[in-house]
Amino acid sequence: MTETLFRQLFYTSRSMPGVDVDHILQQSRHNNAVDGITGLLWHDGTHFLQVIEGPDSSVAETYARIANDPRHSELTILSDRPVEKREFGYWSMERATRSLNDGEAVLARIERRLAGAPEALRAAFTAAAQR
Ligand SMILES: Cc1cc2nc3c(=O)[nH]c(=O)nc-3n(C[C@H](O)[C@H](O)[C@H](O)COP(=O)(O)O)c2cc1C
Repeated sequence: MTETLFRQLFYTSRSMPGVDVDHILQQSRHNNAVDGITGLLWHDGTHFLQVIEGPDSSVAETYARIANDPRHSELTILSDRPVEKREFGYWSMERATRSLNDGEAVLARIERRLAGAPEALRAAFTAAAQR
């Protein structure tokens, strides 16, 4: 019997100034729907945090494209592991500002959306959001 596993990859990167995040999201939604990728993309003006999950080969191909994208640099993989079921069965974008009130609201939303995620992922998102 074959066990079906998804691959879940979580990375952070430094974004180019003035990057058009809406355009990235638009491209991603289209491609990810075709490729069976789900996840979460978060941007605070200077850094991205992204989770991509799906079939192993789709994640590998998608991450290879993303890693070559000049709109960001310094990609650091924080976690790369098999999961039995998707933990981010949606695609979402959060934009955090550095102002405290907005930051708290955004943190609360991220926390809600990460409710089913492993503790290490939640901690990494929270740390990055407070940076
Ligand atoms: C931070 C960041 C996240 C991205 N996430 C995705 C993604 O999840 N899926 C995707 O297909 N492309 C993503 N992209 C865009 C890819 O790097 C690439 O531009 C795109 O896949 C090319 O698509 P196209 O050939 O349809 O134009 C991302 C780019 C950046 C900078």
